[in-house]
Amino acid sequence: MEGVLHWVILGLLLVALLLYGFIPSERTRVRTALLFFVFSIVGLIAAAMLLSAGAGPDHFGYRTIRWAALLLCGIAIVNLASVVLFDILLKALLLQPPRILRDLLLAIAYIAIALVLLSRNGFDLTGIVATSAVITAVIGFSLADTLGNIMGGMALQMEHTIEVGDWINVDGMEGRVKEIRWRQTSIETRNWDTIVIPNSVLMKTRVSLLGHREGAPRQQRRWVYFNVDFRFAPTAVVSAVEAALRAEPIPNVASEPEPHCILTDFKDSYATYAARYWATDLAATDPTDSVVRTRIYAALRRAGIPPSIPAQSIFLTEQNESRRERKESAEVEHRLRALEDVELFRKLTPEERRELAARLTVAPFVPGEALTKQGAVAHWLYIIVQGSAEVHISMNGRSEKVATLKAGDFFGEMALMTGEPRRATVVAASDIVCYRLDKAAFQQTLARRPEIAEDISHVLARRRVELEAVREGLNEEALRRRADHAQGALLDKIREFFGLDAE
Ligand code: CMP
Repeated sequence: MEGVLHWVILGLLLVALLLYGFIPSERTRVRTALLFFVFSIVGLIAAAMLLSAGAGPDHFGYRTIRWAALLLCGIAIVNLASVVLFDILLKALLLQPPRILRDLLLAIAYIAIALVLLSRNGFDLTGIVATSAVITAVIGFSLADTLGNIMGGMALQMEHTIEVGDWINVDGMEGRVKEIRWRQTSIETRNWDTIVIPNSVLMKTRVSLLGHREGAPRQQRRWVYFNVDFRFAPTAVVSAVEAALRAEPIPNVASEPEPHCILTDFKDSYATYAARYWATDLAATDPTDSVVRTRIYAALRRAGIPPSIPAQSIFLTEQNESRRERKESAEVEHRLRALEDVELFRKLTPEERRELAARLTVAPFVPGEALTKQGAVAHWLYIIVQGSAEVHISMNGRSEKVATLKAGDFFGEMALMTGEPRRATVVAASDIVCYRLDKAAFQQTLARRPEIAEDISHVLARRRVELEAVREGLNEEALRRRADHAQGALLDKIREFFGLDAE
């Protein structure tokens, strides 16, 4: 038996040396195992010497030294076996169980070896089992916190809730998980601090895993706020910023989802916006925010939009008749210039145009908003002064685009002149500014200048046929013939509706 043991120890020494050479990451463990072997051999030699010096096999000293030597040998074997199992076999199978599992298995193996050796040495284990319940209770009470931490550590590692390398937020502290140990977990913050958090705390408090979403790459959404004066249209601000953020890739900014800009609030004298992007490196969020801010600044400058700083101004203006008149006439001049660009009103004298301008109201819309809706009752004629709109008709439950209208075009004449409901839906395709003319003012203009009604009837006839063409799928020739025919009939209808005399 003793001879076999020596051979076993020798074989293990050889294995230990091989592991020491080939598994550098576990050298400390193998070195400790080797040391234990050496002690074990020394112990066994000492025991043999005691035996040969006349001590019997039941001699206390002999038995204790031999037991200790065998325990050391067992511990060394278990350690070497763990290296073979975890670092060679499981690694080859691409399995990587948590470190805590390995430690736990080792501890159980140590206890098992100690117990087996004790019982082989004639120790009564029932006594140990009986007292172990008391000891467990005592340990349980005195080490409640420590055990809580250890259980927390085990749960964290077994369930892989948090892993080394994850970015977490615990009670407002953000950092990258550096290591998860039996009792505590340490995180490294962006300020180069290391925070040690007891595992029991991690189990009890709410922990946010930053930039973590099932099936998505690790990236976190960031908000970069800025303010712009009310005078600048939100659509212009949003599109300038989005174009700048998407033009060339920014390091550490994800391309999917794309960065974008939103209008977040209206304040006293400015609107607040946020550019949102997804940061791919959570360690460098501040510098990336800075690059994004720089791009926003340049984009706004290029678009002629100065970033606004929150400030409060109190404007004191003396309201008197002359000031009011001045303001009104400036506005009418503005409208007048817009009317000059509209073909339809070129026939009016400057004085007539001025009167018309005074009756106009300004109506801005943003992309996607409907200016008129198919089937609705009409109140206004619209003149586009800035931007563009699309004309859509809906039929059989689907919507079809018929035409695009731009600055200088008018629309809404069909329903207004025939008394029928709106024939189509007109939707803003960009930021758009229109002037609206109410039906009564329009009627007065037509009564004064019946030739305008005729002009409009041409446009109206063409548009109506275009609508029918889309609805019925007509070709160019059929379209033209129908337009000629429709125009005469329409003019009569318009005259009748407005009570105009035929020339
Ligand atoms: P109305 O029917 O009052 O409201 C919808 C408006 O869309 C309509 O008047 C026209 O001014 C406009 N519209 C309809 N068809 C066309 C078209 N083919 N081209 C341009 N504008 C159109």
